Amino acid sequence: MSDLRRVCARLLCAWLFVVCHTGVGAAEPPAKQKFAKDMVLIGDAVCTKCHDESEAYPVLAIGKTRHGVVADSRTPGCTSCHGDSEDHASSKSDKSRPKPDISYRDMKSGVPADQRVDGELDYALTPVAERNRACLNCHQGGQQMFWRGSTHATRDVACTSCHQVHTDHDRVRDTDEQTEVCFACHKEQRAQLHRPSHHPVLEGQMGCSDCHNPHGSAGPKQLKRDSVNETCYACHMEKRGPFVHNHQPVTEDCTICHNAHGTIVANLLKYRPPYLCQECHSHTSHPSQLPGLPNARSTSSREMGSVARGCLNCHTNIHGGNSTQNSATAGRFRR
Ligand code: HEC
Ligand code: HEC
Ligand code: HEC
Ligand code: HEC
Ligand code: HEC
Ligand code: HEC
Ligand code: HEC
Ligand code: HEC
Ligand code: HEC
Ligand code: HEC
Repeated sequence: MSDLRRVCARLLCAWLFVVCHTGVGAAEPPAKQKFAKDMVLIGDAVCTKCHDESEAYPVLAIGKTRHGVVADSRTPGCTSCHGDSEDHASSKSDKSRPKPDISYRDMKSGVPADQRVDGELDYALTPVAERNRACLNCHQGGQQMFWRGSTHATRDVACTSCHQVHTDHDRVRDTDEQTEVCFACHKEQRAQLHRPSHHPVLEGQMGCSDCHNPHGSAGPKQLKRDSVNETCYACHMEKRGPFVHNHQPVTEDCTICHNAHGTIVANLLKYRPPYLCQECHSHTSHPSQLPGLPNARSTSSREMGSVARGCLNCHTNIHGGNSTQNSATAGRFRR
């Protein structure tokens, strides 16, 4: 054997030694997993050897969702959401099997406590904050940025009160079905949206989430933008102006006159004019007139605020006017 060959042989031995005692050996799956293969997520075999397609609950459907894109290194495994759950997975008996570390069973996915069959999952639920933390581990930025401190978070609403993850049809993100998810807790808004004048939400043209970010926001009432008006301007740009003559309540807050969900008065108005206007304008002359039809032929202007569209017959540009006429009436939103 030449020197060169001997060196090569030694190097080979050394390499084999290193390989056998480190990487490759460790990557060999533990005995239990040798028989079970991953089904949809990396490392899921430890769970899917029991929770497979034979289960009534569609556990494996998660493979068809964004959480099932195994090529994406950010993709969760079963344990990212349910915790390691070692005691649960290794228990020999279904009777005494402890619950998984994080259980999302709630009124939507599970059976209410008082309707459960004897002994069926009669353990306590994982507290909401702990459940949400599992999701927040990966979803802290973007739309979820203001979750902490949001009304939903402080009122103990769970991510999974709205979201379903073991299905590629997450109802809350489907404009047609989202309202039903929200209405489960928001009866008042359901009633408002059924009123004669309403935003076309029930018609499926827009969702609650066109105005609200249910994960919280920097604005009031979990509105998507920083203020009520900014939220409205997103679709009603023409109301933003700038106008030569501004009507103070309009620039302040659209909901002084409108209810964004629905009302019984046309144009989502909270009250019928002239009453709407008289909430603020009742101190002088014609703005304070009582409504009522003239009961005789008359040229008097006494009842001029009251017929049909009332005040709006003359003050047509109630959201702001651009008249540059040099007259005392130019600023009265009449053109
Ligand atoms: C040895 C079999 C077995 C293994 C392994 C196993 N489970 Fe379970 N699991 C069960 C049984 C049995 C139930 C109860 C079934 C029922 O009543 O719905 C259950 C119920 C569950 C539930 C529903 C109950 C709840 O509180 O939400 C979840 C979630 C769950 N397992 C997750 C997991 C996860 C995650 C793993 C892997 C870490 C795992 N399981 C491994 C047998 C197993
Ligand atoms: C992204 C987080 C997430 C991942 C990943 C995940 N789950 Fe779930 N799992 C949930 C949530 C949330 C629920 C509650 C029902 C729902 O919202 O769909 C649930 C429900 C379940 C249930 C049924 C609970 C019941 O009420 O009967 C089982 C069983 C379960 N998961 C097992 C698994 C297994 C096995 C894996 C891996 C293949 C897995 N989960 C991966 C979040 C997750
Ligand atoms: C280990 C990280 C991880 C965990 C834990 C996790 N997710 Fe995700 N989630 C992701 C990734 C990655 C995506 C893909 C979206 C993307 O590209 O940003 C995603 C997407 C989503 C989407 C959008 C799906 C779509 O079709 O666009 C929703 C909704 C969601 N997750 C909810 C949840 C909820 C609820 C939980 C807790 C039960 C949770 N996630 C836990 C990583 C995670
Ligand atoms: C009150 C209902 C509700 C709750 C609670 C909720 N979501 Fe959402 N989520 C939605 C709606 C509605 C959308 C769709 C938003 C849209 O289309 O603009 C959404 C979209 C998402 C998306 C996909 C869009 C994106 O941001 O990339 C993710 C991820 C998500 N939610 C995660 C979470 C997590 C994590 C939690 C808990 C911390 C949570 N959600 C709590 C209603 C909710
Ligand atoms: C599990 C119940 C639940 C669900 C589902 C739910 N909410 Fe809520 N929401 C609440 C609670 C509780 C409050 C606190 C105020 C209250 O009691 O009405 C709240 C408050 C709000 C507020 C007022 C925020 C504030 O700062 O005052 C808005 C807006 C809202 N929810 C929108 C939604 C939308 C949009 C959906 C559907 C995508 C939804 N909610 C689904 C429980 C829920
Ligand atoms: C066109 C925009 C818009 C749409 C669509 C919309 N909202 Fe609102 N919502 C608002 C505005 C603006 C406010 C705050 C002013 C107010 O209370 O009238 C609000 C307030 C709320 C509040 C808090 C009420 C209070 O008194 O604190 C809840 C709850 C709410 N919305 C739920 C919903 C739900 C659920 C949906 C879908 C069914 C929905 N909203 C659709 C604009 C909208
Ligand atoms: C996502 C887009 C969107 C946002 C945001 C929005 N709207 Fe609308 N708005 C619409 C649509 C669509 C209609 C229906 C138009 C139609 O039927 O011709 C409408 C109609 C209206 C109407 C007339 C209703 C009627 O009976 O004809 C009023 C008033 C109104 N919106 C006020 C508001 C206010 C106030 C806000 C802010 C709180 C707001 N909108 C935010 C889309 C939006
Ligand atoms: C001072 C009360 C008042 C305020 C504040 C107000 N509006 Fe109006 N709005 C009205 C009245 C009155 C009508 C009906 C107009 C008519 O019949 O000609 C109306 C009608 C509308 C309409 C439907 C008809 C049209 O002109 O397109 C939209 C959209 C609208 N308002 C959006 C808004 C937005 C957006 C804001 C906030 C920037 C706002 N309104 C603030 C009183 C108000
Ligand atoms: C929330 C209170 C409020 C409501 C409701 C309201 N306004 Fe005003 N309006 C004001 C304020 C404040 C001014 C500015 C007064 C000033 O500059 O002296 C104003 C100004 C006006 C002016 C111009 C007055 C001037 O001296 O130039 C007219 C015209 C007017 N409003 C008509 C209406 C009509 C019509 C309605 C009903 C559709 C209405 N307003 C509803 C608060 C309101
Ligand atoms: C027939 C047309 C007409 C109708 C209807 C009308 N106005 Fe006027 N309004 C005017 C004219 C013209 C002016 C400017 C001349 C003036 O100052 O008297 C004016 C001025 C005003 C002013 C500012 C001066 C003041 O008197 O305070 C307010 C506020 C006002 N109108 C509110 C209303 C309200 C509220 C209604 C409904 C109850 C209404 N107007 C109905 C034509 C009308």
